[in-house]
This record gives sequence, structure tokens and C-alpha cells, in this order.
Amino acid sequence: MKYSKKYSNKWLTSFAICTMTFFTAFMLVIRPSVGQESEEMEFTNLQLLPEDIGEERLIGIMNSWEEALDVGCDHCHEAYGRDDPRNDFASDSKLPKLITRVMMQNLFQFNQALTPEALEKPADEIERAQCSTCHQGNTIPPVFEAPAE
Ligand code: HEC
Ligand code: HEC
Repeated sequence: MKYSKKYSNKWLTSFAICTMTFFTAFMLVIRPSVGQESEEMEFTNLQLLPEDIGEERLIGIMNSWEEALDVGCDHCHEAYGRDDPRNDFASDSKLPKLITRVMMQNLFQFNQALTPEALEKPADEIERAQCSTCHQGNTIPPVFEAPAE
């Protein structure tokens, strides 16, 4: 699935503001160190995340997805272990990676609808949905079962 660059950029700006509250503390801590570009990884196939996101922020997001679904990098990527020559994170060969892009867009749109007007409370008090809100450590979110009376 391809999205136009224009849409991606707009999406990203708001994604950064709206859906990354979970990472805000993390980003504030690591941002000062992102200055040293020398060892920065080059990303060649980011369609939704910003190209200049930087390795530490990107890996922080990837780690949060691992936790939200309780999977490893290899669930979404051609990842065979550290320094394995077969590793190819840019590849789109795995379906969960493609599904994740759909999830990201839906999550963004959902969070965008959680406006102060709709919820009648200030923006900084709005609880934003995360991957973990649904997934709760599962690849397929569990169906809620009401406890027996
Ligand atoms: C739930 C799925 C998922 C998991 C788990 C995951 N990733 Fe990703 N990863 C993605 C998606 C989706 C993208 C592309 C995002 C985009 O298009 O903006 C991506 C992009 C990347 C990229 C950029 C590749 C490029 O050049 O474009 C790297 C590097 C990467 N991931 C590393 C990792 C590592 C390391 C792990 C494990 C610690 C990991 N990912 C876990 C889904 C995942
Ligand atoms: C609104 C709830 C919701 C949110 C938020 C959500 N997901 Fe999902 N996700 C689902 C449901 C439901 C399915 C199962 C669909 C199916 O039947 O295959 C799913 C399936 C997936 C799958 C495919 C299942 C697999 O085997 O890996 C991936 C990958 C995934 N989600 C990643 C993510 C990531 C990453 C995020 C955050 C960016 C996210 N999801 C946010 C509800 C959600």
C-alpha cells in the first residue's frame, strides 16, 4: 500500500503531536544526543515515519511495538540476529509490517478525532490510544470476556 508524500507529511506532523505522547519523555531524553550524525543509520523505506527521525527515536518506537504485540523484530522484518547479512529492515516482504502501516494510519485518525471539543476537556488531559490499548501484548487483540456473575 502506497501513500502520497503530501499525505505522509501531513500525517506525520499530526502523528508526532497526537499519537506519540507515550514516547514524549523518551524523545526529550534522547533528542540532545541526536546531534552527532556520524553513525546515524540511513532509512530507505519509511513511508509514514519521518526520514530524519534518527536511529534512537525509530528504535524506541520499534521497541514499543514489540512490547505492545509481544513479538520480536522478526515478526515484521527480515531480521535474523545482530550483524546477520540477511537482515533487511527496509524490505516490505512481511505482511505484519504492511498491516502495521494500516494500524498506524487508523490509530492516527482515531486519535485525531479525540478533540477537546468532542471530549469537552483540555488537550493535555486527553488520553490517546496506543497500539497497546488494543493489543495488550497479543498479535491479535483479545476479545473482552465479562467475568461470570
Ligand atoms: C509490529 C511490526 C514491527 C516490529 C515488531 C518492528 N518493526 Fe521495524 N518497522 C515496522 C514498520 C511498519 C516500518 C516502516 C514504517 C514506515 O513506513 O514509516 C519499520 C521500519 C523499520 C526500520 C527502517 C527501515 C528502512 O530503511 O526503511 C528499521 C531499521 C526497523 N524498522 C528496525 C526494527 C527493529 C530493530 C525492530 C526490533 C527491535 C523492529 N523494527 C520491530 C514494523 C515493525
Ligand atoms: C483499535 C484497536 C487497535 C489498535 C489501536 C491497533 N491495532 Fe493492530 N490489530 C487490531 C485488530 C483487531 C487486529 C486483528 C485483525 C485480524 O483479524 O487479523 C490487529 C492486527 C494487527 C497486526 C496483524 C496481526 C499479526 O499477526 O501481527 C499487526 C502487525 C498489528 N495489528 C500491529 C499494530 C500496531 C503496531 C499498532 C500501533 C501502531 C496497532 N496494531 C494498533 C486492533 C488494533
